Amino acid sequence: MNILVTGGAGYIGSHTCVELLNNNHSVIIADNLSNSKIETIDKIKQITDKDILFYKVDVIDEQAAESIFSSHQIDGVIHFAGFKAVGESVEKPLKYYYNNIVSTIILSRLCIKYNVNKFVFSSSATVYGENKVPFVETMDLLPTTNPYGETKAISERILTDVAKANHSFSVSLLRYFNPVGAHESGLIGESPNGIPNNLMPYITQVAKGKLQKLRVFGNDYDTVDGTGVRDYIHVVDLAEGHVASVERLQEGVHVYNLGTGQGTSVLQLIYAFEKVNNIKIPYEIVGRRPGDIAVSYACVSKAEQELGWKAKRGIKEMCRDAWKFEENL
Ligand code: NAD
Ligand code: UFG
Repeated sequence: MNILVTGGAGYIGSHTCVELLNNNHSVIIADNLSNSKIETIDKIKQITDKDILFYKVDVIDEQAAESIFSSHQIDGVIHFAGFKAVGESVEKPLKYYYNNIVSTIILSRLCIKYNVNKFVFSSSATVYGENKVPFVETMDLLPTTNPYGETKAISERILTDVAKANHSFSVSLLRYFNPVGAHESGLIGESPNGIPNNLMPYITQVAKGKLQKLRVFGNDYDTVDGTGVRDYIHVVDLAEGHVASVERLQEGVHVYNLGTGQGTSVLQLIYAFEKVNNIKIPYEIVGRRPGDIAVSYACVSKAEQELGWKAKRGIKEMCRDAWKFEENL
């Protein structure tokens, strides 16, 4: 297939491009590089020894986006492009609602116009809000505590309605749990601008000596050791989930959790990182971070049954590969 990957220069997008190419699909990337670097395109080519097309395009510029649809035969779109910093979305809600929702509207409009029938969307476990774990795809979505999460829930609804009105338009809504790690080559990975918000990049920067110590946000949750529990998933497993999802996409709207089904606490992740990489991570316990939930992990049986996909890599590989990438920076 010829797949248009929006946000393909970003963290999850770049790993997905590698796996699409490894599975003999062709890739066109549309990315405005607002949160990524042009060098990533060459790294994708280097890892796969294959060529890709790259357009530096803002997908909310409809004319620019349309020029890609009008000049290529596209079989499917994987839509990663969007802003993702939860804290920033609270400060700048309109920036998030505008980019994340308008991009979904424009891309689905262009798909209908150009008869592109497969659409895979990057959603998030955050749409489950404070449901009971494990999160199952059939649960009602609960309000999230931030505009970022709302953009995911609203985009899911928009795509569902578009698919209802256009029967040949098939949609896969992929709810990611906590993607971490990097490609085993160490060439591509996650390099956030400024001080990281997320746990794993914070740990790797402490390991590198860029940051002094990790702050653990709360140890009074009702969990194994009081710290927050998440379902960390290796980004290459996540990328493989996208390949399975676009290859198996049937008519209609399909929702899948992409996680491992295993919960890991903050302290468990720190200790695993220390053990695997033989580096001490200094940390201190501080108060809870506003908006955090205690526990999040997925029920993963639907993706396994319908997509024939299952995460294969464990916490050890996640810690090893995240560090390898940071070391290479
Ligand atoms: P990322 O920031 O690394 O990648 C997003 C890419 O989209 C960047 O390369 C950025 O330059 C590009 N982009 C943003 N707005 C654009 C626009 N209007 N036009 C063109 N390009 C644009 O983020 P990521 O971690 O790879 O996340 C990819 C997607 O997955 C996002 O939609 C994110 O919300 C979603 N997601 C991420 C996580 C996570 O923890 N990383 C969890 C759940 C969902
Ligand atoms: N944490 C710390 N210290 C830090 C950073 C995080 O203790 O410096 C803790 C958090 O309190 C939480 C856990 O580590 O218990 C994971 O936090 P992250 O920020 O790494 O991840 P979140 O689960 O909060 O959120 C992430 C993405 C969201 C996405 C969600 C579900 O940031 O965009 O996963 O996919 F919606």
